[in-house]
Amino acid sequence: MPAKALTVLGIETSCDETAAAIVRGFPPGPGEILSNVMFSQIAAHQPYGGVVPEIAARAHVELLDGIISQALSEAGLTLGDVDAVAATAGPGLIGGVMVGLVSGKALALASGKPLVGVNHLEAHALSARLAQGVAFPFLLLLISGGHCQLMAAEGVGCYRLYGATIDDAVGEAFDKTAKLLGLPYPGGPQIEAAARSGNPKRYPLPRPMIGREGADFSFSGLKTAIRLIAKEETLTGQAVADLAASFQAAVVDVMVDRVASAMREFRTEFGGVNQELTLVAAGGVAANRAIRQGLEGLAGREGYRLSVPPPALCTDNGAMVAWAGVERLAVGFTTPLDAAPRARWPLQGLEDSVHLLSGLGTPPLEPATESRTSQSPLK
Ligand SMILES: Nc1ncnc2c1ncn2[C@@H]1O[C@H](COP(=O)(O)OP(=O)(O)OP(=O)(O)O)[C@@H](O)[C@H]1O
Ligand SMILES: [Mg+2]
Repeated sequence: MPAKALTVLGIETSCDETAAAIVRGFPPGPGEILSNVMFSQIAAHQPYGGVVPEIAARAHVELLDGIISQALSEAGLTLGDVDAVAATAGPGLIGGVMVGLVSGKALALASGKPLVGVNHLEAHALSARLAQGVAFPFLLLLISGGHCQLMAAEGVGCYRLYGATIDDAVGEAFDKTAKLLGLPYPGGPQIEAAARSGNPKRYPLPRPMIGREGADFSFSGLKTAIRLIAKEETLTGQAVADLAASFQAAVVDVMVDRVASAMREFRTEFGGVNQELTLVAAGGVAANRAIRQGLEGLAGREGYRLSVPPPALCTDNGAMVAWAGVERLAVGFTTPLDAAPRARWPLQGLEDSVHLLSGLGTPPLEPATESRTSQSPLK
């Protein structure tokens, strides 16, 4: 393993953020963020109530070069100064992933630096090591626009599933609920803001999966309950705030119960003497303060340390991709220039697929479908 800190350029284009960053460091972190440039395309998608894949891909093409140049200049570096170029290779909206990965390949080829194809979910998973230098193993709660999973994170490329949502992702539930409440996209921050002046007890909403064995989640029943209320009542003013608060409180209760169940499983596996147990929450929904508070209380009760990256590192960003590049480069995982972008690419079994990406074989070409439909305006 190289002893010196690694400097990596990271490129993120898997959804509606066009982002590039330079990060310097070495596992287990924390890393130093030399620059972190992000352009959110929210305004372009807002009229449609969700991300339109074609608009996103075009915007990435137009914006990415300038954003990469800005990331390098803010860091005071040229491409010759970085040790590798990392780019999200999936999962995500395939058009956007292609734009970022092809740009990463071109820069790697032109500069003679290695390419690291990054799994976007692993980038979220490792963001707590970038921010706080968390050691493996840790219990990972990945809560984002397309995912809701609890996993044992045992090492780079090494994730084992305890439980996942059986229907909607939690970010998707926030976004769909916001739509029903007449709040603009993206719904998560809007619901959080509206909930601040709301009464969380006004609407007694269901708490799906609470008390069940295992660590699976379900959010579709909650969404249906909200839809029924929205049909029966005209939701304005205080009712919107109260329903937002009631929804958020239900999500927090579900989250705390499911994480508690996974904590017990994780403790059985990893809770040896002197072993500090850590819960990491990552992904855009981990930016939510009520969820953070719920997890903080739970961690205190269960004797876990809670690590949540700052909000700007929870939602999509280039720094987490650059850091995942640092982590992979440090253990010698690089990616051949003919690697395929992947619309779907689960975190469990990543070790095998990374071997594929690392030149031991060719990953199967993904069908040109999107990895999820949650933000499709057609849904
Ligand atoms: N403060 C918040 N409270 C609740 N949800 C939030 C908050 N901030 C962002 N979100 C939600 O997080 C999601 C975006 O997170 P992220 O950028 O990690 O997801 P994604 O990249 O679109 O999905 P994935 O990472 O699964 O591919 C959206 O659903 C958004 O509504
Ligand atoms: Mg994401």
